Amino acid sequence: MFENGICSLLSRVVPEGGEATAPLPGNLRLWDDDARVLLRTLPAACLDRLFLMFPDPWPKARHAKRRFVHPEMLKVVARVLKPGAEWRIASDDPTYQAWTADVLAAQTLFDVPPPATTRPEGWPPTRYEAKALAAGRGPLYWSAYRRQVTADETA
Ligand SMILES: C[S@@+](CC[C@H](N)C(=O)[O-])C[C@H]1O[C@@H](n2cnc3c(N)ncnc32)[C@H](O)[C@@H]1O
Repeated sequence: MFENGICSLLSRVVPEGGEATAPLPGNLRLWDDDARVLLRTLPAACLDRLFLMFPDPWPKARHAKRRFVHPEMLKVVARVLKPGAEWRIASDDPTYQAWTADVLAAQTLFDVPPPATTRPEGWPPTRYEAKALAAGRGPLYWSAYRRQVTADETA
């Protein structure tokens, strides 16, 4: 389902032609299916950082449930992040930017400073970002920091 992204990654970490046989870096794990499924299977509070770089925007309102940034997904992401861990979200799509701002403003699981308008230091560039910039679109970059788990959440 998500072969393009996996192929693109493999082309960077193994020599040309060695995708099926070359050893991978020991600390790399690949998941070639829906990331939402993986997040639901991970143990609680196991991640220090999570990247959501230019998710598909699903701009039609009737498809909003498919957006990765979604009130239901916020709970899923919050569960796997350690307190203080950072969730990085980038988007160039105006509808998705407005949606993300609204969803993040309406939740209590993360502290979210205003988004940056240029890629913050330490964030990797992506292929999609380069296309967006070349097309004149302006990405926004959010860092959402997981708050301490409250008694309400554990109840
Ligand atoms: C707009 S592209 C951005 C790709 C890359 N992150 C970049 O910035 O260059 C969105 C990517 O997310 C993948 N994708 C969409 N929904 C996904 C999901 N639920 N789990 C894993 N990957 C997903 C798509 O297959 C596509 O490769």
